[in-house]
Amino acid sequence: MPRLKYASVLRVFVILGLFCLWVQIMLSASNGSIYRDSEELMNANETSEQVLALVPPELHKYLQVHPKNNSANSTERSGPKNISDIRRAIEKYNDAQYIYNEDIFGPVQNDTIIIAIQVHTRLTYLRHLIVSLAQARDIDRALLIFSHDYYDEEINSLVRSIDFTKVMQIFYPYSIQTHPYEFPGTDPRDCPRDAKFEQAVKLKCLNALHPDLHGHYREAKYTQTKHHWWWKANRIFNQLQCTQGHTGLVLFLEEDHYVAEDFIHMLHLLRSTADKNCPQCEILSLGTYLKTYQYHVNGDKVEITPWHSSMHNMGFGFNRSVWNNIMELEQQFCAYDDYNWDYSLLHLSQNRPGREKFKVYLCKGPRVFHIGECGFHHKKSNCNASTVISKVQKLVANAKPYMYPSRVTATATAGGAKHNKRLTKGNGGWGDIRDQELCTNMTKVGRQMKKYVYFA
Ligand SMILES: *[C@@H]1O[C@H](CO)[C@@H](O)[C@H](O)[C@H]1NC(C)=O
Ligand SMILES: *[C@@H]1O[C@H](CO)[C@@H](O)[C@H](O)[C@H]1NC(C)=O
Ligand SMILES: *[C@@H]1O[C@H](CO)[C@@H](O)[C@H](O)[C@H]1NC(C)=O
Ligand SMILES: *[C@@H]1O[C@H](CO)[C@@H](O)[C@H](O)[C@H]1NC(C)=O
Ligand SMILES: *[C@@H]1O[C@H](CO)[C@@H](O)[C@H](O)[C@H]1NC(C)=O
Ligand SMILES: *[C@@H]1O[C@H](CO)[C@@H](O)[C@H](O)[C@H]1NC(C)=O
Ligand SMILES: *[C@@H]1O[C@H](CO)[C@@H](O)[C@H](O)[C@H]1NC(C)=O
Ligand SMILES: *[C@@H]1O[C@H](CO)[C@@H](O)[C@H](O)[C@H]1NC(C)=O
Ligand SMILES: *[C@@H]1O[C@H](CO)[C@@H](O)[C@H](O)[C@H]1NC(C)=O
Repeated sequence: MPRLKYASVLRVFVILGLFCLWVQIMLSASNGSIYRDSEELMNANETSEQVLALVPPELHKYLQVHPKNNSANSTERSGPKNISDIRRAIEKYNDAQYIYNEDIFGPVQNDTIIIAIQVHTRLTYLRHLIVSLAQARDIDRALLIFSHDYYDEEINSLVRSIDFTKVMQIFYPYSIQTHPYEFPGTDPRDCPRDAKFEQAVKLKCLNALHPDLHGHYREAKYTQTKHHWWWKANRIFNQLQCTQGHTGLVLFLEEDHYVAEDFIHMLHLLRSTADKNCPQCEILSLGTYLKTYQYHVNGDKVEITPWHSSMHNMGFGFNRSVWNNIMELEQQFCAYDDYNWDYSLLHLSQNRPGREKFKVYLCKGPRVFHIGECGFHHKKSNCNASTVISKVQKLVANAKPYMYPSRVTATATAGGAKHNKRLTKGNGGWGDIRDQELCTNMTKVGRQMKKYVYFA
């Protein structure tokens, strides 16, 4: 008998599976693919009428801000800077830990939601992220921390023009921009990426003894993102004066993300619900990589599943107690031969002595979207800023009736085989002992009080 039962159960599953597949295909045929643009076009000088029409007039300024020039006498000289000027400016801003608009929105509290945004150079995306943040409810009670690995006056002007909440800028001090000819940039004495080990030893290049697990030597641009992510997290949790007693959530975003207006509401709801039915869920996540979004079914659904790097790295957050867990295993992150910060974190998650993997409390109707994906995976076709932005905006508008749910219902899943596959070796790119050492060094910096620097 059990055998028969098994067969019929199996049949039901197969039919169900096929049905889901069909639904998925139908949905993606009608509403799919918002990810069709290219980075090159996104950075073009373009603020088309169509895009502006989708943005409330009072926010047009974020799509149009250019370097300070007209706004009276700015407190700093604008214009191009050389590297030593940039380094000095970075040091000055990092020392000052200045919080813009604190006078209007009040000081950072221990439970203030901190939104950490990693910024490289994609200004057009960043403008739209800011527009989306500006429209989010309760954003005026958050702190936005923009973490930059590229110093650029136009980006700075944009960030400093934000007037809807508190803003801080932090600058990753070991960037390639400020170290073009030395580690962590590329030192002329470094081994060529593809040099063979014996050849490298013979050449006596600097890192000859430390190729990665594929036998390749480091490439600065691939290591920077992991360094920056790690530095930023260390800076925010361990070093800033304003986070000294902070116990609230730190949400991680990137410059090419876009948020739905109820994302802060969702964060509060996820935390309070998780405290009741999954207190061990360390990580909250607002994004998914689904290509279709069924808000009418999923708007108030939550999944509890093992955290997985490539699936739950968008719009995710955790608090200091989780950070402390991560810090205890810092070596699992810094010494793991993988240049991806998210895979490194997954490796750490899978190697917690006597503990389970991190669990994520995941919002199935996403509140954070990745608008920059096309730049990575597609090089062609109708990839253009207005197209992508207007698609995301339509999607968010369609989801509006399902936003601000008053409660969420959670289901636990074990996650697919992909979630649970144990990482053995990393993806490489992090074999250089200097990268591992710099990473560890970043954890050793203690809390730093604000220095009141004179901006002249
Ligand atoms: C960008 O667009 C503005 C307004 O359309 C135009 O005045 C300006 O010259 C353009 N700049 C570049 C670099 O194309
Ligand atoms: C400064 O702004 C004025 C008008 O607002 C413009 O004519 C001028 O070209 C700008 N200068 C620079 C350096 O951008
Ligand atoms: C800028 O400052 C200089 C001297 O500090 C002053 O002469 C000038 O009028 C100021 N310009 C503006 C637009 O405020
Ligand atoms: C950088 O520019 C400043 C002036 O802005 C100048 O004093 C300094 O010598 C320059 N440094 C280098 C290394 O060129
Ligand atoms: C924030 O936390 C710190 C350390 O726990 C505590 O000393 C401080 O009083 C708290 N601040 C507020 C406003 O609750
Ligand atoms: C921090 O996160 C943990 C989950 O890992 C949760 O149990 C705890 O309540 C959170 N702390 C605060 C102050 O929210
Ligand atoms: C698909 O798009 C249409 C029109 O934009 C919209 O009415 C519909 O609700 C969308 N369906 C889903 C599942 O998002
Ligand atoms: C982007 O697409 C829209 C409509 O599809 C078009 O009007 C606009 O000119 C395009 N922009 C660029 C820079 O190709
Ligand atoms: C790490 O810190 C040590 C001690 O301060 C220093 O000697 C070393 O050069 C640093 N390494 C890197 C890669 O920054």
